[in-house]
Amino acid sequence: TAPSVTAIRGRLLTFTKTPAGLGDRDSYRYLDDGLLLIRDGRIAAVGPADEVMPRLPPDTTVEHYPDGLILPGFIDTHIHFPQTQVIASYGAQLLDWLEKYTFVAEQKYADAGLAEINARFFFDELLRNGTTTAMIYGSVHPQSVEAIFAESARRGTAMIAGKAMMDRNAPVALRDTANSSYRDSKALIERWHGKSRQRYAVTPRFAITSSEAQLQAAGSLLNDYPDVYLQTHLSENLAEIAEVRRLFPGSRSYTDVYDRFGLLGPRSLFGHCLHLNEGEIQRLSESGSVAAFCPTSNLFIGSGLFDWAKLADPRRPVRLSLATDVGGGTSYSLLRTMGEAYKVLQLQCQSLPALTAFHQATRGNAEALGMEGEIGSLEVGRTADLTILDVKATPAMRHRHEACNGDLEEELFILMTMGDDRAVRATYIQGKCQHQRVEQTS
Ligand code: GUN
Ligand code: ZN
Repeated sequence: TAPSVTAIRGRLLTFTKTPAGLGDRDSYRYLDDGLLLIRDGRIAAVGPADEVMPRLPPDTTVEHYPDGLILPGFIDTHIHFPQTQVIASYGAQLLDWLEKYTFVAEQKYADAGLAEINARFFFDELLRNGTTTAMIYGSVHPQSVEAIFAESARRGTAMIAGKAMMDRNAPVALRDTANSSYRDSKALIERWHGKSRQRYAVTPRFAITSSEAQLQAAGSLLNDYPDVYLQTHLSENLAEIAEVRRLFPGSRSYTDVYDRFGLLGPRSLFGHCLHLNEGEIQRLSESGSVAAFCPTSNLFIGSGLFDWAKLADPRRPVRLSLATDVGGGTSYSLLRTMGEAYKVLQLQCQSLPALTAFHQATRGNAEALGMEGEIGSLEVGRTADLTILDVKATPAMRHRHEACNGDLEEELFILMTMGDDRAVRATYIQGKCQHQRVEQTS
């Protein structure tokens, strides 16, 4: 069969390296009128429209977004599938919030039919927000992860997901055992890891809900399958840290609990990382582990302020990523997440240039997941997972934009400060449009 060829035209923005700071024009490529040629879901050519246009095969459909800002799709490195109805739960900090809301809601995911229906909602919502890849926590039930991967395979997205392992300090209905969590995770790895664009993450929920035997099982899975990921929570809340100290008296620190079971490494992502001591930061740095900054969650659950500058310190840098953490987080939008990240850093007299924020949500998060060869930039050979943004999405944004004189960085800053799903004009997976914003008729 003939290869499927399409083209998308508009303003193209892609990052080539981590921005050094405000105004670092060497960190990105921007084309005011660019064209992406897409063949079989991958970028086959990219350049100024007047150069690429003559190379299009005859009869190629060109989808034109004259004002649209075309970026690599957003990547969310930490989100909870069974918490779509936990988001916006009032008045609790982490441990109460888990008990009162989260552990109640997640019990519903024993029902495979419900998981299937919610997977459709979840993916619709990711795509509506311009998110094309996510690293996802399922519930303890393997069928929740089956639902995620089946839906992802159907849509052709690249997703990383895992079944939560939790064998203590949770309601009986949400507990597995060290053995069953090993078996169930193994079966999901065999069934899904590396199939279509799916990848598995071994997912011990956090130290409080796993016995030593279960953390050991998690380590065994990483040994048995060296190319799977690991995701868990680390140092989010002070009461949580005190409880970890009580449960693991033999460990030097919260990070050390995971370290002793071989859970640190370049494919390991740790949510939050808010209250780490110097020794813990050093171990995360040495091991190449990744910290996931979840600003809307950290503010909403009242957990603390992520110290970006300290973690990124070039003397012992920790690899960073940016994530929503829905349903502790309050928005599926990486734009909203960037805006809240900016505020969290402002409170610590740090800053977050728009270039740094947009780099992080695209190429930076792809690097955090070791997926920069597949996604995160608009380069030949990359899969054409795209988000197309509209900086004039609302009257207030349009009005603000009138004062910005064509300055790209300022435009990006407006998007991250005022933007959300309304600013996502369209989302493409493997070069095919899977979300179009409904246009208002006025
Ligand atoms: N720590 C353990 N489980 C969770 C969770 O579901 N959300 C957050 N934010 N922290 C956690
Ligand atoms: Zn989380």
